[in-house]
Amino acid sequence: MKVILAGYMGCGKTSVGTLLASKLGILFFDLDAIIEEEEQLSIAEIFAEKGEIYFRKKEHQVVQILLKNEMSFVLSLGGGTPCYYNNHELISKANCFSFYLKGTPETLSQHLIDEVKKRPLLAHIELSELPDFIAKDLFERSFYYHQAKQVIAIDNKTIEELVDEVIGYLR
Ligand code: S3P
Repeated sequence: MKVILAGYMGCGKTSVGTLLASKLGILFFDLDAIIEEEEQLSIAEIFAEKGEIYFRKKEHQVVQILLKNEMSFVLSLGGGTPCYYNNHELISKANCFSFYLKGTPETLSQHLIDEVKKRPLLAHIELSELPDFIAKDLFERSFYYHQAKQVIAIDNKTIEELVDEVIGYLR
């Protein structure tokens, strides 16, 4: 079984993925963490030193390798992963359960408010402008996120509730 979690930064992909994998008793992979480990650099450092295109290529390579693998796992994508190369097609054609953890710009902003400096795509945004920035980005990314097999609204839900909701679809 492969479970793939997609969604904007701050939607809880990593937290949901970690608990989900432990409840299912399968491996958990976080795409950003794999790339950080391989590069021995943080995501912010990769963007600064090697550039976003390098990072997107790396994401694409790692997704391809993981999807070819026979193992069962939960994979939390990076927020932009489905929107670059043909990643969304690879994911929708793969034999896996894919979920879009969908939040409103307000919920996502609340989750991201203390973390913007760590996130290269948000580091230049004024906090007061964060909801509008996210709303615009979501509009552009929405098509790709909605290629997931299931959409789960995250607003006002705990990580435990989201994990249980995902498990309810895994049949
Ligand atoms: C990105 C999201 C980040 C990380 C990188 C780019 C994006 O992942 O991959 O900063 O394009 O939305 P998280 O969603 O796990 O923070």
